[in-house]
This record gives sequence, C-alpha cells and structure tokens, in this order.
Amino acid sequence: SELKLWGGRFTGETDPLMNLYNASLPYDQKMYNADLDNSKYYTEGLLKAGLLTQEELDEIHRGLEIIRGEWASNSFVEKDGDEDIHTANERRLGEIIGRHIAGKVHTGRSRNDQVATDMRIYCREALDNMAKILKDLIGAILQRAEQEIDALMPGYTHLQRAQPIRWSHWLNLYATYFTEDFKRLKQIRERLNVSPLGCGALAGHPYGIDRELIAERLGFDDVIGNSLQAVSDRDFVVEILFWCSLFMNHISRFSEDLIIYSTAEFNFVKLSDAYSTGSSLMPQKKNPDSLELLRGKSGRVFGSLSGFMMSLKSIPSTYNKDMQEDKEPLFDALLTVEHSILIATGVISTLTINKESMYKALTMDMLATDLADYLVRKGVPFRETHHISGEAVRKAEELNLSGIDKISIEQYKEIDSRFENDVVDVFDFEVSVERRTATGGTAKSAVLKQIQKLRTELSS
Ligand code: ARG
Repeated sequence: SELKLWGGRFTGETDPLMNLYNASLPYDQKMYNADLDNSKYYTEGLLKAGLLTQEELDEIHRGLEIIRGEWASNSFVEKDGDEDIHTANERRLGEIIGRHIAGKVHTGRSRNDQVATDMRIYCREALDNMAKILKDLIGAILQRAEQEIDALMPGYTHLQRAQPIRWSHWLNLYATYFTEDFKRLKQIRERLNVSPLGCGALAGHPYGIDRELIAERLGFDDVIGNSLQAVSDRDFVVEILFWCSLFMNHISRFSEDLIIYSTAEFNFVKLSDAYSTGSSLMPQKKNPDSLELLRGKSGRVFGSLSGFMMSLKSIPSTYNKDMQEDKEPLFDALLTVEHSILIATGVISTLTINKESMYKALTMDMLATDLADYLVRKGVPFRETHHISGEAVRKAEELNLSGIDKISIEQYKEIDSRFENDVVDVFDFEVSVERRTATGGTAKSAVLKQIQKLRTELSS
C-alpha cells in the first residue's frame, strides 16, 4: 500500500483482482494531455494563491512536459499502484522533479474535480474533431446533390412508390439530418465547456484559489457554480452518448435506404469495391458490408447510452466510483461514431448511381396526385379531385392499360367532363417534380436553395 497515493491509512493489502477491477489507467490514459494541462494551469492558480514559488512552478512545468513527451512517444513506464492517469502522472512527476515539490501539486485538488475537468477537456476536443469530419461528410453529400441534380427517382412512403423526386432531394434529406446533428454538437460543446476545477473533493477550495483564472487558462467559458454539482455531474457524458446514438440512428436509416437501393431489384446505386466485400461461398456476391455495419453499430452505440444512464441513475451525491464507468462507453461510442462518419463519407463519395434504373422505376400511377392537382387548377375542390383521380387509376386497371396516361381523352371525359385535351401534359415526371418549387420541395430551384442554406448553416 506504500505504492498508493492514498495508502497512508491502510495496513492490509488490496486483493490483486480488486486492483485490476479498480484500475482505469488502461483506458483513461488517452486523457493524458488533458490531465497534464489540468496540472499545468492548476499550479498557476496555486502560485497566485501563494502556495508555490515561481521556481517550484517552473520545475513542475518542466516535469509535466517530460511526462507529456513520454506518453506521446509511448515510453511512459507504468508501475504497480498506478491506478489511473491522475495517479500515474503524479507518481511520475515525483520521480522526475522530486517528491518534495511534486507533492504540492495536488494541494486543494481532488481526483474528483480533476477527473471531471479532464473529461470535459477531452470531450471538448473529441467533439471538435467530430464536427470537422461530420462537416466533410455533409460536404460530400451536398457535392453529389449538386452534380447529380438531374437524376429522378421514386420517392417512397411505406416503402411503396409514392411520388417522383430528385435523387439530390433524397441526398439533401440526410444532409439536413446531419446538419442538425452538427448544430446539436455545437450546443453540447458549449454546455460542457465549464470548469469544475478548484472545487476540491466536494466542498470547495480552502485556499481561495482563483477558479476563474484557471478556467480561462484551460479554455473554459465559465466555472461551475456549485462544488457538489461540479464533482457529481456527468450529464455532459450522457448528452454526448445521446448525440452519438441519435446520429447513428440517422446513419442507420441512410444506410438502410442505400442497402435497398443497391439490390439488383432496385439497382439505383452501386457501391465501390472499397466498401464492399465478397462471399466465401458464392463467387458472384458483392455485399454492402460497410452499410450493414453502419446500421448494426447503431445498436451498440445506443447500448452505451442506456448502459451509462443505468450506472448513473442511483448514484448518491457526490462522487462515487460508479462514475468511472463513464469512460469505456463514452470512448467506445466516440471511436465508433468517428469511424462511422469516415466510412459513410467514403461510401457516399465513391458509389455510382444508375440514372436509367432510377428513371425506369418511375411509374405513371405515381402521377395520380398530379392528375388530381390538374383538376384543382380547373377549380375543382381537392377532395373531389382525389376521388376522380382514383377512378382513373381503377379504370386503367380495369382496362388492363399500362398506366393512367394510356386512358384516352374520351374515356377521361367519361370519368369527368372537366378533363380537357391538355390532360396529357400531366404525364411527365419532370413536370411533376418541377411543380414542387415551394421551399423544401423537389424542384431543381428548391433543391439548389436547400444546398445553399445547409452550406450557410455549416459555415456559421
Ligand atoms: N479514475 C477515477 C475516475 O475515473 C478518478 C477519480 C477517483 N476519485 C476517487 N475519489 N476515488 O472516476
């Protein structure tokens, strides 16, 4: 127990499995930068409070940078008793600059405010990186939407052909989801960027340390206003896990669409070899594994959210070791989402579309709404036109015609006398699509406007 920073009051040995069970160093060492910055600026606060001399501070900073170099070059040597990143760094600092000075760093600080601070610093950077790659994904989608603006395809409800839309309109659907995710990410980052440091174990700092100064030096926007909450709170972890889960939901739906569109039955899109794999038995197979994994991993990420919510829900105030269970689900979710964004970006920027198959999948019955709209333009109430158009669909079926465009003008007049010769103009997919000019619609002008709007939102 001498090896342990808290060993003073202990006489018995810790069960070896308990040491393993308790240790977080295997996974929290990735926060080493945050932890070293924490000590770097916390000790500036100690200097200002008169608890360190300038010479001691310089020595500490020198030691911290040596440790940083060791982690960065993978040469940090872990020792028995290094429970977590905080104890490991402190132990090593003592070895480098001597325990006399190193032993002052933790004055007034607890691992409770320390870990809460490290986590926020780490998350902040992870979210910034996430925002960057997410922006690239959206950029790739918007670029396609612009380049392939002319391709038409069926839009679906209930997975049944509904109305003709532009392929780029479908792309914009997900670009819009992902842009909302992007904005949500910024909001979460803003909320989490407040500093717990200087709250001690739970009750506050006994040396009147300048928390605001330390917070500012660490890049925080504010300090947390209650010391108990500062060390208790992991809502930011929950928010990130929720963000990850919702994002993966969007990615999953995006993937599901593309999996369907890539079947031989649809043949709308073809994945590049880079994101497909083969079958060990059937030589002809090319499977969309990338998309299936994107869909499948959404379950795993949601599991991290629900799992951690369960860990958190009955923790009494303030710090309890249960809270260490925030890290593995968080780090796993962040990595999974990061990889998912990169894979999705690769998939969408390398697939090819089959414009002919998309167009061939359009059927005249998908213009039944347009037929109803035709009569609306002649002054007939929509409820009535809906019914009349339905009759036309039935008539085409009864007469065994290939579509409502094959009904003759005379037959149309029999259905309703208000049909005139110009009804034939309805039976054009391009015309149908181009009517949807109102904001948000699938007409070319409206789609281009959406692209513009999303680009603006992403750059602000
Ligand atoms: N490794 C711990 C964690 O991640 C650090 C905080 C330990 N605090 C304590 N009072 N034991 O939560």
